[in-house]
Amino acid sequence: MTLQGLNGVIQVPGDKSISHRSVMFGSIAEGTTTISGFLPGDDCLSTISCFRKLGVEIEVVNEETVIVKGRGIQGLQEPTEVLDVGNSGTTIRLIMGILSNTAHHHTLIGDESIAKRPMKRVTDPLRSMGIQLDGREEGNFTPLSLRGGNVKGITYKSPVASAQVKSAILLAGLQAEGVTTVIEPEKSRDHTERMLEAFGVQVKEEGLSVSIEGGQTLTGTHIEVPGDISSAAFFLVAGSIISNSQIELKKVGMNPTRTGILDVLLNMGASIEEKNLKTDVAEPFADLVVKSAPLKGTEVGGDLIPRLIDEIPIIALAATQAQGTTVIKDAAELKVKETNRIDTVVNELNKMGANIEATEDGMIIHGGTPLHGASVNSHGDHRIGMMLAVASCIAEGETIIKNREAVSVSYPSFFAHLDKLKGSK
Ligand code: S3P
Repeated sequence: MTLQGLNGVIQVPGDKSISHRSVMFGSIAEGTTTISGFLPGDDCLSTISCFRKLGVEIEVVNEETVIVKGRGIQGLQEPTEVLDVGNSGTTIRLIMGILSNTAHHHTLIGDESIAKRPMKRVTDPLRSMGIQLDGREEGNFTPLSLRGGNVKGITYKSPVASAQVKSAILLAGLQAEGVTTVIEPEKSRDHTERMLEAFGVQVKEEGLSVSIEGGQTLTGTHIEVPGDISSAAFFLVAGSIISNSQIELKKVGMNPTRTGILDVLLNMGASIEEKNLKTDVAEPFADLVVKSAPLKGTEVGGDLIPRLIDEIPIIALAATQAQGTTVIKDAAELKVKETNRIDTVVNELNKMGANIEATEDGMIIHGGTPLHGASVNSHGDHRIGMMLAVASCIAEGETIIKNREAVSVSYPSFFAHLDKLKGSK
């Protein structure tokens, strides 16, 4: 049966980056933090599990409401078990900064994908601040061991635009002697800076540089997590490329360091309307209405990349349906995400009839290719699984997605939402 379009209203789940930080910062704050709109995805549950092992009392009142009884920055306990971050790069990298000033011993592990992801980008600068860190291949891969203490502020010029690197160093800087400054090549997402301010910490931003003075304390607060624009992206593209669609996405995070997907889709000719823009506890959000529209190819690169790095798989799918060629460049970071996303996007979409060439730092997508059903694989990568599910909606014939359950890392209700939109014309 051919699909009659996707129609209806949905609220995408809470932002993954903000949900992680709300539990982490709540744990090291003085007093209680209440979180609403929390993302109950596997990655954020890994963060809760790690902080519970560090002695923090965390109550999951219902899936989206969490109460964290902060222990203060010096109050975390020495864990009796290894800290297992599962599939979560944000958890492992930020927690290293948080644990930087305790003389306790910690062992950090994760799943098969985490074991392949580079950690030196964080362990090197943290070591230079005085933290004892080690791991496989000179501290580049898990399992990692960490013992903190006597952290000194640094000025660090990061070779990559990475919010995980920036955040880990700032969180160590929060506990360091003196001032810590991180300078990035391009601006990465700034949720750490915004949320630290909501917890009463002063952070100084000047262009591409962010500084923090050591010795500040966090005070528990209320965090309202907006919907994740990276999750909304799947429906922004689905609504654009599936004929006869109109989808309203409620309360989507509109932080300017994350809205590159909107810039690109609008530039490709998408019909997306923004309504009810508001700001709540430091983060802006709005409702987005997307309608089907013909798309044209585009070029994506430079300082736009950090603003849409997680959306590149779904942008690539949009580009297969656009008129003309789309070039994605300056995105070598894709190779060190949950999978090598240049390879997984190119291999899996080409199995469905797309015409995409991999390049060293991105891909070239020749548009206007009808897709056909195939047996494809998420390779355990949530964003590849969701992108393939959207691709299957426009493919002729049956598509089988192996490892589709990976979507629960960031969007456990994804297939339920997709079914709802399919049936609600
Ligand atoms: C994240 C930062 C990004 C992003 C990841 C979440 C964060 O990674 O890809 O999904 O929450 O800080 P990098 O900072 O390594 O680019």
